[in-house]
Amino acid sequence: MRYAYVNGRYLPHKDAAVHIEDRGYQFADGVYEVVTVKDGKLVDKQAHMDRLDRSLKELEIAWPVARPVMEMIMGEMIRRNGLRDGLVYMQVTRGVAPRNHAFPTGAVRPALVMTTKKMNFAKMTKFTDGVSVITAPDMRWTRRDIKTISLLPNCLNKQKATEAGCYEAWQVDPKDGTITEGTASNAWIINDKGELMTRPATHRILNGVTRLTILKIAEQEGVPFVERAFSVEEAKRAKEAFVSSATSFVTPVVEIDGQPIGDGKVGPVCKKLLAGYNEYAAGLRTEGAVWSDDIPADEAEADRAA
Ligand SMILES: Cc1ncc(COP(=O)(O)O)c(C=O)c1O
Repeated sequence: MRYAYVNGRYLPHKDAAVHIEDRGYQFADGVYEVVTVKDGKLVDKQAHMDRLDRSLKELEIAWPVARPVMEMIMGEMIRRNGLRDGLVYMQVTRGVAPRNHAFPTGAVRPALVMTTKKMNFAKMTKFTDGVSVITAPDMRWTRRDIKTISLLPNCLNKQKATEAGCYEAWQVDPKDGTITEGTASNAWIINDKGELMTRPATHRILNGVTRLTILKIAEQEGVPFVERAFSVEEAKRAKEAFVSSATSFVTPVVEIDGQPIGDGKVGPVCKKLLAGYNEYAAGLRTEGAVWSDDIPADEAEADRAA
């Protein structure tokens, strides 16, 4: 049987449900995390838990259970669902209360839901063949650093990508034409100097845990990198490009808006970083993501602080 965890109980996945006045359901008032499971082990668990802690703090939602208990439930879900490869999804909302935009007063317990999903990473052709992306205007709010379940703009752009037969939509800041990130992943290019480029972690993107691990791998592999925003034009002129997320690892991008990137094939830097990431996920490398709560509002603030 497939199990889901809902507020203290392990239930058959098909019967699992939350209350209609859960604020997650009514206001998207909650946060989530997705942690990859490889060979039965959670990848970057600590960094994901640290990011969850920050997301909760930013929204003034308390932990629904103590952190070690959360980790215990994750382990139990993996065990009950016989999960070797796939993901653990966890969602925390502010809880159940009569509908009113302002936070409920009085003791409302945050709600916790957890599910798992089996995935066969070894069989996924995206890693070997690469994927196509489109670009689309970024329509989101100004606190994209918080991993909230409020994902409607992301869904709309992902739907556009799907309709275009593409894997992802790279979202573009309408003010300056730079790429922020994908709808469920971070965006990367290798520029004409051979430098790895990705946007710095500010309030304009979600700081991917996979992103942090890849930066560590780039360092180990001697791949030079710069954290700087890049435009759609720069991306289309890039030698290579890829997306990263807990379940995309390093997924090469071979086409943007129908235009081939480099020679239109998966390039050497992508291969090197993916190989490094796979070794890390398999426990053959140890140095990965270290989360930091300190995220500036924008690039200008980051520059002032530096
Ligand atoms: C908008 C967005 N950016 C980036 C990421 C990548 O984050 P991570 O590497 O922690 O999965 C995600 C993952 O879901 C995301 O939704």
